[in-house]
Amino acid sequence: MPPLIALEQVHKRYLMDGVAVHALRGIDLAVERGELLAIMGPSGSGKSTLMHILGCLDLPDSGRYRLDGVDVTHMDPDALAHTRNRTIGFVFQSFNLLARTSALENVETPLIYAGVGRDERRERARAMLERMGLGDRMGHLPSQLSGGQQQRVALARALVTRPPLLLADEPTGNLDSRTSAEILALLDELNHAEGVTVVLITHEEEVAQRARRRLTLRDGRLDRPEGPP
Ligand SMILES: Nc1ncnc2c1ncn2[C@@H]1O[C@H](COP(=O)(O)OP(=O)(O)O)[C@@H](O)[C@H]1O
Ligand SMILES: [Mg+2]
Repeated sequence: MPPLIALEQVHKRYLMDGVAVHALRGIDLAVERGELLAIMGPSGSGKSTLMHILGCLDLPDSGRYRLDGVDVTHMDPDALAHTRNRTIGFVFQSFNLLARTSALENVETPLIYAGVGRDERRERARAMLERMGLGDRMGHLPSQLSGGQQQRVALARALVTRPPLLLADEPTGNLDSRTSAEILALLDELNHAEGVTVVLITHEEEVAQRARRRLTLRDGRLDRPEGPP
């Protein structure tokens, strides 16, 4: 089987006021199914840019990205969205839940887009929230939940469609250290028990310690040796 993620010489530039920012400078990366990988790096090193490309939210300027064996580098937006919905769950630093919507409805939403019928939707959303330890919070609005609980709702929403890949961009960035540890333990457990491949972006060493493989991004390159440029 090909790796779940295979990047070859991926470059990404942004144009800001006529000045090019070279955010990714030739990324080679393979992630196998079942891995839990942490990508670390200081602010501005290209972590979110890499995450957007891994998540098919953006395309490389050059290089190649194969996801689950399929070359997505030149896909049109519709095909890319379809691949994304089928393959990837996302969690972010700022939970991104729908504010006026209950935990249960938040988790059901991706199943609506996936065309799952109402009863099955409700059943799967309930089961996923119970899995996250939120069986008694299903009717709560995000504002009625703690940060850690909101992130667990976001995790349930990300995983309810059973994607093989979970991408987490600074998922504990807004949480205190104890709650961070709980979320990381949950990611670890989901990785082990369900085999979901996890790519976690963080700039915190303690967070990265939980991963079985760690890579560092510096100035748009992975694992450049220490020392002067
Ligand atoms: N939409 C954008 N437009 C212009 N420059 C951007 C944009 N997004 C990111 N950048 C620049 O690209 C570089 C990498 O940013 P980013 O991927 O957000 O880094 P990180 O997530 O590691 O903090 C930074 O120099 C940033 O300013
Ligand atoms: Mg970022």
